Amino acid sequence: IAPRTPLIAGNWKMNLDHLQAVAFVQKLHWTLKDAKHEDGSVEVAVFPPFTDLRTVQTLLDADKIPFALGAQDLSAHDSGAYTGEVSGAFLAKLDNRYVIIGHSERRQYHAESDEVVAAKVKAALRHGLIPVICVGETSEDLEKFGASAVPVAQLTAALAGVKADAEIVVAYEPVWAIGSGQAATPQQAQDVCATLRGVIAEKLGADAAAKTRVLYGGSVKAANIASFMREPDVDGALVGGASLVVDEFAAIIRYQK
Ligand code: G3P
Repeated sequence: IAPRTPLIAGNWKMNLDHLQAVAFVQKLHWTLKDAKHEDGSVEVAVFPPFTDLRTVQTLLDADKIPFALGAQDLSAHDSGAYTGEVSGAFLAKLDNRYVIIGHSERRQYHAESDEVVAAKVKAALRHGLIPVICVGETSEDLEKFGASAVPVAQLTAALAGVKADAEIVVAYEPVWAIGSGQAATPQQAQDVCATLRGVIAEKLGADAAAKTRVLYGGSVKAANIASFMREPDVDGALVGGASLVVDEFAAIIRYQK
């Protein structure tokens, strides 16, 4: 994949069981036949729940469906007495390419600290997975500190100990825009994504900053995707609700700048 190939990623969250997942992926693939993801100009990734991963992997492989697979979380540990946790080693063995780390829902409902997020980023990289590092401010943060301060601090912490040549993806997801129907403006997304690229440059070097994809997420839909993709520092989208509706997600993937 060429550096900074646009990435359209569907985070299913806790939706679609493994049977529903099969129907969904087949229908999406069928709907997208001959679309540009087939020629490599856009990368499509789906992030199903853990219990779906094996089934979706088998389907993608059997039908040669060109979607990348990703998990929604992983353990910071590789193996051992961690009941309920899932190792990056297992995810890698199931052909996962990506893993979402530090989603605001995990930070909020599972008390994931910046330290935990940093440990998970390292765990992902140890197993050859590409971490999709999520950062974003709440509406209170926005009011108090402006848009960039919290995402910058979160990304700085997440990149501690990451090597310059590590492949990562960063997703800017303002918490107030997630599932609210109120997306950031393209300019807001651009400003923070550009600032985050600056953090990557500072921590990992100019080369990494030029190659790393920075996504926007938060109420992305077919009607607004193009406006985000026109921004120079937005390299794709992490889509929640709209990634669960075949026609809507297909239309997002088919965006025209
Ligand atoms: O990870 C994607 C997500 O948090 C955005 O959700 O439903 O606003 O697209 P949604």
